[in-house]
Order: sequence, then structure tokens, then C-alpha cells
Amino acid sequence: MNNKIVIANLKLNFTKQEINEYIKNIGNPDKRFIVFPSSIYIPYFLDKSYSVGIQDVYFEDKGTFTGQVSAIQASSLGVEYTLVGHSERRHIFGETDEETNLKIKKGLEHNLKVVFCVGETRPERNEQQTEVVLDRQLGIGLKDLDNLENIIIAYEPVWAISNGNEPSLTPTNDEIKYVTEYIKNKVKEITGSNDVPVLYGGSVNDANIEEINELECLSGVLVGGASLKIEKIQKIIEVVVPQ
Ligand code: PGA
Repeated sequence: MNNKIVIANLKLNFTKQEINEYIKNIGNPDKRFIVFPSSIYIPYFLDKSYSVGIQDVYFEDKGTFTGQVSAIQASSLGVEYTLVGHSERRHIFGETDEETNLKIKKGLEHNLKVVFCVGETRPERNEQQTEVVLDRQLGIGLKDLDNLENIIIAYEPVWAISNGNEPSLTPTNDEIKYVTEYIKNKVKEITGSNDVPVLYGGSVNDANIEEINELECLSGVLVGGASLKIEKIQKIIEVVVPQ
């Protein structure tokens, strides 16, 4: 049994009835499969054979912050993982690098495994700024952390993340390998930590998973759109984390 993981980021999708169907159909994958539903549905995913994560946490424990959910609340419920710094949080909700740093610290403080998302936009890539962007996101996001065993990095080039409007594009395996190694070296330089797990995310689906899974530098994948379709996510689970 390998140590890879498959993350299903359900984003803002599904009614209660659809969530019930999803739970019924997904079966009993093991803990290497982690589902991130809308936080309102997390209680339905507790005590399953697989794990559950929260899509975002606030960087304060409690207080006058209407609409927010904190890491300590998620952890007290039995949630094991949180995403931090997803590109939709950064680009739609204006989350800054400094906020990602505070959220990562809170997540780690409350024993959540933190999946920290980084990646460049299309214009940044076109201007050959990928390394500059990663240096900034990682440099600020990972500043002054302890407890690094619970950090996982997800490389998610923003231009590869499906948004329902444009045809999806994915980097080649050589491109993913180059950036993954760049990230590992950078994390080592910033934190001294060797070999942090790195996932790839961005238009991962049932058709490209075999090829992506050939990359030995990766510790798994983060799946958005394809995770909404049971047959697609089941195929991805079968390939990446076979029982
Ligand atoms: P996608 O999303 O698989 O639909 O491209 C990935 C993500 O946003 O995490």
C-alpha cells in the first residue's frame, strides 16, 4: 500500500440530497482518500472509512467574525485536513499571502493537516514569473512555522484549474516534475524540512490520471471538477491509491 493521497475538492456544489447520493455511491475507500465538502455538510462525512477536510479556515479561534469557521472548531468536530490558499480564495476572495501564513499556523496549532495551495496564473506563466510567484507564496506562507510534518503542498497552476468556461489545459509531466522539484528545494531552503509531500492539482481527470500518476515526485493529486462525478473519482482512486 503506497502513501499517496487523493483529495476531492467538491467546492460549492451539491444539495443535501446530492450529498447523500454521493456518500452512498462513493463506497469505502481508505483514509488516503480525503473529501472536502462544503463545511455545512462535514458532519455527514465523519466516521467514514475515508477522511474529511475543510475547504478553508479563519485565522482566529473565535469572536465577532460572522460567517467564518475556525480551525479549532473543525478540529473539535473530527476534521483531519484543511486547504489553505486555494487559488479561488486568493483570486476571487482576495486572500493575501500573509493571511495564508496565519491560516496555516492556526491549522497546525490545532493539529489539522494543512494542504497549502500554490501556483501561478496564466499571465505570470507567460511572463516567466512562475518561480518568482512560488518564491513569494512559499516564502510568506511558510514563514515561522513549527510542526512541519503536517504540511502538504499542492502545486495548482491557476491556468490549469477548470472553471467551466475554457477548455482545460494541463502541464506536461516534465513541467510538473520541474516545478515539484523547485518547490521541494524552496521549502527545504525556507524551513529546513526535507522532502515535503507535493500534490498536483489542475484538471486532473479519469483520462489523464494514469500519466500524471507516473510521476514519482508526486505524493498524490487534488481533484476538483472530476471529483463531482462518482465514476471519475473512483477511477482516480483506483489508479493512485489502490487497496
Ligand atoms: P479542477 O480543480 O480539478 O476542476 O481543475 C482543481 C482545484 O481547484 O483544486
